[in-house]
Amino acid sequence: MADRTRPDLSDDRDGPLASSLTALAKAEAACTRCPLYQHATQVVPGEGPRRALILFVGEQPGDREDQAGRPFVGPAGKLFDRALQDAGIERAETFVTNAVKHFKSQMRGKRRLHSKPNVYEIERCNWWLEQERGLVQPRLIVALGATAARALTGRTIKISSVRGQLQRLPDETALVITVHPSSLLRVADAQARASAYEAFVKDLAKAQRLCAETR
Ligand code: URA
Repeated sequence: MADRTRPDLSDDRDGPLASSLTALAKAEAACTRCPLYQHATQVVPGEGPRRALILFVGEQPGDREDQAGRPFVGPAGKLFDRALQDAGIERAETFVTNAVKHFKSQMRGKRRLHSKPNVYEIERCNWWLEQERGLVQPRLIVALGATAARALTGRTIKISSVRGQLQRLPDETALVITVHPSSLLRVADAQARASAYEAFVKDLAKAQRLCAETR
């Protein structure tokens, strides 16, 4: 089994690995590994207990998360919280983070609109995600959406063809891929949105079940 405390992205400029989540958040706050830090308010580190069994990975902080400095506290976060509750998962017992730790946005008038991180930004930020994985050592990881799936697997993945299935990362950590909660907010038709929500809750409940069964 690969040593999860040793990200394989290291080069001479990576610096030391953090020995605690607090030290990691401090190191992340000084991150200049890609240009995204220049326009974000602050870094948004992952949060949750060090020995959480499930680690959730989102895409990147949104506008609200950028202001609060905490992951999944905006509209997608509210929906995520509700879905976790409906799936019987206690968020406080899980570790919740993002593939990319700074908000990437573009200005439209006075509004900052979400902009998707590119592969370079995802790969540069993997330094932090890998360290979170190393410190938490979750039994199971849930990738919320394509960016998280890309960050964790290094591949472009069609979510609909794998969602809710048990996968294994190269180091054997269990992985479940599902949709990003913000995709549900974009479904215009109420009935289609309700079905999409139900399917999301089902994936989360399955992840929870697999976590209980998996080693
Ligand atoms: N979307 C994400 O992927 N992460 C957040 O923290 C908020 C919205």
